[in-house]
Amino acid sequence: MKVVTTFREAREEARGRVVLVPTMGYFHEGHLRLMEKGRELGDTLMVSLFVNPLQFDDPADLARYPRDPDRDAGLAAEVGVDVLFVPPLEEMYPTEPFTRVVVSGLTETMEGVHRPGHFDGVATVVTKLLAGLRPHLAVFGRKDAQQLAVVKRLVVDLSIPVEIVGHPVVREPDGLALSSRNVFLGPDHRPTALELSRALMAAADLVEHGERRAAPIVAAARGAAPHLQFEYVELVDQDGLTRIERLDRPAFLAAAARVGPVRLIDALFFDLSPEGEPVPDRGVFLEAPSVLYREAG
Ligand code: PAJ
Repeated sequence: MKVVTTFREAREEARGRVVLVPTMGYFHEGHLRLMEKGRELGDTLMVSLFVNPLQFDDPADLARYPRDPDRDAGLAAEVGVDVLFVPPLEEMYPTEPFTRVVVSGLTETMEGVHRPGHFDGVATVVTKLLAGLRPHLAVFGRKDAQQLAVVKRLVVDLSIPVEIVGHPVVREPDGLALSSRNVFLGPDHRPTALELSRALMAAADLVEHGERRAAPIVAAARGAAPHLQFEYVELVDQDGLTRIERLDRPAFLAAAARVGPVRLIDALFFDLSPEGEPVPDRGVFLEAPSVLYREAG
């Protein structure tokens, strides 16, 4: 594995079909599974590791964002990453950018309401990574469902020749969606945090029992999480992110809640079977606790 710090060096390593997995580091199986997926889909697997200040709406969140570049390099090498691109701030933003990528329409709900400016920062840095590294394909997680929709839309709107692939949510054995920020969840917070994935699973159960109306599906989710203070629970269509009344097209149920010091988000996608029936994607459950617990100490 080559560790490089400039766009140019990264491009010089490209052979054949290039796959990119953009990240902010502090790797866990959520990232590692995306990389393994990326490995299968191309010849050169690039991973970018950059904690993007432009997308943090809260300076305290940026300051305490977990970082461990050496550990990350070890984990990336193990899963067969060819190029780990770790740009310093001066490489990513040599000057304060006058050009920002703003995806309107998709960013005025859910995360966009609770994290003003966040998606402008995400869309800008993702566009820079796609322009500077020129991958043929890039992999993003379904956990950040709205981010995935924003990225899919921006590549269409800006005619960027890249295929965007979504990967199922990777979960701890108890259902909690992996997140680098989970290292700040104390044992006292765990039972409440677990209610988030339980809520989504309860909704999926109801759909599997035949429910198609949005209101009871959302109510089932809320009902399964009595101790959680939700910021939102929304059932929206996968591409346009508009709220739907019935589950009759590809959709996802997304939710966010603050638990102790951490803001958690999670999503459950409903894809459509060939017969047009919704099929819940509950994600990938790990068999043993993630590396976050093995190595975070
Ligand atoms: P980060 O939070 O590091 O996540 C990197 C990628 O891993 C994203 O596509 C995210 O959706 C995916 N991911 C994280 N946890 C996951 C989980 N439990 N299951 C499945 N996928 C998971 O998302 C970002 O970084 C940044 O916004 C970025 C796209 C890199 C732009 O700065």
